[in-house]
Amino acid sequence: MALREVLQFPDPRLKEVSKPITRVDDEIRELARDMIDVMYDEPGIGLAAPQVGAPIRLFVIDTEWSDEEVGRNPMVVINPEISEREGRITWEEGCLSVPDYTATVERDARIRLRGTDLDGNPIEEIAEGLRAVCIQHEVDHLDGILFIDRISRLKRSLYVKKRKKQLAEEQG
Ligand code: NI
Repeated sequence: MALREVLQFPDPRLKEVSKPITRVDDEIRELARDMIDVMYDEPGIGLAAPQVGAPIRLFVIDTEWSDEEVGRNPMVVINPEISEREGRITWEEGCLSVPDYTATVERDARIRLRGTDLDGNPIEEIAEGLRAVCIQHEVDHLDGILFIDRISRLKRSLYVKKRKKQLAEEQG
């Protein structure tokens, strides 16, 4: 099975605000399965639906996986909401949609995530550290925000320049 392609900056679809999911059908189940495959293949610790061109409010996450299948524990979150936020934390972030770049981003240190799983069961989790950072990063994707939108204008413009050069070389 061919893996879904991850959209990369500056694809305009990454800037769209994704729509809430009202009904989980087979298409969405298949999407979630495919996204989990892509996440482990890339590899990454989270992936949001708009990154594979599906503008709906769903992400997958596994912040502690190891190479062995047994160490994998992917969570699919539908219509996520962050309801409580506490403290601040900085973390070096990267993104499968922002090639060859990482930067330090400041986020909330401790959050409460609510959402539902593929079967409509409620998900509620208090997350901190890397897990909290990753959840906020993925929810940002659903709002059309990339982590490079949360760094200084100077750093961002340097990255944009580097990326444009890279794309020009790929096409050249
Ligand atoms: Ni990302």
